[in-house]
Amino acid sequence: MPLSFSHLVSADQIMRSDAEEILATCDEMETVLKKGGDDRLKRKVLACLFYEPSTRTRLSFETAMLRLGGQVLSVEGAQSSSLTKGESLEDTIRVVGQYADIIAMRHPEEGSAARAMLVSPVPFINAGDGPNQHPTQGLLDLLTARKERGTVENLTVAIAGDLKFGRTIHSFSTVISLFPGTRFRFITPPNLRMPAKVTNLFKERGVPFEESEDLQDGLDADILYMTRIQKERFESPEEYERLKDAYVLHAKDLKGKSVTVMHALPRNAEIATDVDALPNAAYFRQAQNGVPVRMALLSLLLGA
Ligand code: CP
Repeated sequence: MPLSFSHLVSADQIMRSDAEEILATCDEMETVLKKGGDDRLKRKVLACLFYEPSTRTRLSFETAMLRLGGQVLSVEGAQSSSLTKGESLEDTIRVVGQYADIIAMRHPEEGSAARAMLVSPVPFINAGDGPNQHPTQGLLDLLTARKERGTVENLTVAIAGDLKFGRTIHSFSTVISLFPGTRFRFITPPNLRMPAKVTNLFKERGVPFEESEDLQDGLDADILYMTRIQKERFESPEEYERLKDAYVLHAKDLKGKSVTVMHALPRNAEIATDVDALPNAAYFRQAQNGVPVRMALLSLLLGA
């Protein structure tokens, strides 16, 4: 079944039928990956425009395209593009869309992806626009939830840390809230709470959420999604220093707990490395799920 969108800018575009189609296509892509790939996107070209640092998103997009037989053009950092000569984002996208069949872009400004989509002559995917949205991360988190918990329904999802600037969890919470029985616990310091633009959607969808400042409130959830306090989003270095270690999860906190621990990575101190060896720690498996999800999206958006 085709998706309801031809560009993916924000997780709130995704309907439940889209999420189910993407998850079903991920199952097919896991089978493709087991045999090393196929050539369904042969002669198709993906342009990866990354104007902000990335390891997982860019490399898993590139891997996804290569595993499906396609090819990749990459720009890393604004310094290596004509944006430094004053070219507008819109002009860049118009031109790149004449070289490539599909574009994935990461950009530091909130709203940049929506601007790019409006002028893109080919399918456009937001790979992170500042503190706003990261919808492909939200989808790979959904796949992770299903693989780790066996379902995406009736899950209690605790999210801890920086929910104000955390684009990954804006997208994940929006996508998982499509499924019945989702309940949220948002655990933050007072000035890093989930923005109203996200919680208003949960109110519209009738999805219950509680707010707390105590990490203990996440330990009996089905999923505890830890987030990094993002230095690059703070105007005040003092405020960052004050908040950076607000929540630190240790192995001893998880003794006797079945909660699945997720994190989009990269992490700083918020998950101690002694958690890594526990079965609860799903974050490296989560990063691996970026490949089948991005294979599924490229394939569906390119009609392969
Ligand atoms: N999760 C994520 O977006 O990681 P990168 O910043 O490395 O792409």
